[in-house]
Amino acid sequence: MQAVIDYLTQNQSRFVDQLCEYVRFPSVSAQPQHRQDLQACAQWVVSHCQGIGLEARLCATQGNPVVVAKTPHQPLADRKSEVGSQRSEVGRSLRPPPSTHRPHFVVYGHYDVQPPEPFELWKSPPFEPRIEGGALFARGACDNKGQNLAHLKAVEAYLNTGTELPCDITFVIEGEEEVGSSSLATFLKEHRDELACDAIVISDTGMPDARHPALTYALRGIAALEITLRGPARDLHSGIFGGTVDNPALALCQLLAKLRDKHGRVAIPGFYDDVQPLSAYERKQMARLPFNSRDYQRLVGVPRLFGERGFTPIEQRSARPTLEINGLTSGYQGEGSKTIVPAWARAKVTTRLVPNQRPARIINLVRKHLKKLCPPTVRMEIEAGHGAEPYLVSPASPQARAALRALESAFGCEPVLMREGGSIPIVNVFKKSLGADALLLGLALPDDNAHSPNEKFDLGCFAKGQLMSAHLWQELARL
Ligand code: BES
Ligand code: MN
Repeated sequence: MQAVIDYLTQNQSRFVDQLCEYVRFPSVSAQPQHRQDLQACAQWVVSHCQGIGLEARLCATQGNPVVVAKTPHQPLADRKSEVGSQRSEVGRSLRPPPSTHRPHFVVYGHYDVQPPEPFELWKSPPFEPRIEGGALFARGACDNKGQNLAHLKAVEAYLNTGTELPCDITFVIEGEEEVGSSSLATFLKEHRDELACDAIVISDTGMPDARHPALTYALRGIAALEITLRGPARDLHSGIFGGTVDNPALALCQLLAKLRDKHGRVAIPGFYDDVQPLSAYERKQMARLPFNSRDYQRLVGVPRLFGERGFTPIEQRSARPTLEINGLTSGYQGEGSKTIVPAWARAKVTTRLVPNQRPARIINLVRKHLKKLCPPTVRMEIEAGHGAEPYLVSPASPQARAALRALESAFGCEPVLMREGGSIPIVNVFKKSLGADALLLGLALPDDNAHSPNEKFDLGCFAKGQLMSAHLWQELARL
């Protein structure tokens, strides 16, 4: 193990150079013009995996390719624990009896990134990495290229120092996480035998600060929709026609304004029906997490915080459901003025969900409510987008405790348990199709600017993440 640790220490600068190569691909999954860039990025990941000694392949899907990379198959003679086992060498579909079981873990990550816009707010171009103050700035640096590369580097250290890995590891790195992971969901169902495993390891969440590494035990789900209101057949002169026809932009504003009350609660009948209340115990634990209201307010840059009455900011952003407008478009967006009644107006809306809310049911509730609110002066179209169920797992399982030990060894301080407000759509699919729970061991800091301009990844977190991964395989295999 010391050889692994030394290898990691000695090779940091090369690892950073490789992360720079990785983030140069503009692998923006939301934008169709980047399809080739996603393909090229996936190909880079495959070559990189092959270069460090993994058996890697590019798997085509209906959408962006999935990269699958496995630790090399050990010769039978080396597999002391399996002597006498009935296990087939052909595939992992035949699970060996428990006594001779060699643990297998899947590491999940994504190479796709969020759109970089607005470009003008970036201090340096989003796909030209820049290092400043011990951090690497680029779109995708922390979400999620830097975090999945940290795991690859840990495995590289084992392979290149000839240190025996106590388990089999399969990397699954996809290109559609930021748009709902629909191709990977199909892929998992088709490859469930090959991917059968003891747990899914994911570093794609955050930690409260550099001195508090975290194990995340819950993620919010999501349900996305686009609402379009159409009025006149074309944009009209607002002086000539205004006053006789409804204005779709105004009608949309009035409609959207009714979706939330002044206490920050979502005003859609039935929205909270399935919400499982937080236990007093959990609320008490959440209150102990490091959090400073004033620092938080400064970080996000608002004149005053706002959220559902009766809950703390930590609860509001991780354990309570919400509704947000993510985009709002209508009329003339260019310089200067143009006096029109726009022909249409559109809002992109997402709701974040907590146990036991279900995306399909929530979409139905929103749809029904909007239909009721919509005036007869405009036509409404509602298109449902991606959806993902919320995720909640015990933070006290033997695997979770093993992960906490790995975090503590790597960071040299005691880890915390937390819920996260973000979503990783595939975690529930992993659970359903493989029966495996996810260990969420995120390395992102609150000021890493995920999804914002000037995204960065702290290089200290990068290095500690590699160490954490190196320790994790020992801790997990010992169970
Ligand atoms: N890494 C995030 C999820 C995340 C962020 C979890 C912060 C916890 C804390 C992931 O890449 C992401 O952004 N997911 C999207 C999914 C959506 C587009 C379906 C999200 O949460 O918005
Ligand atoms: Mn993201």
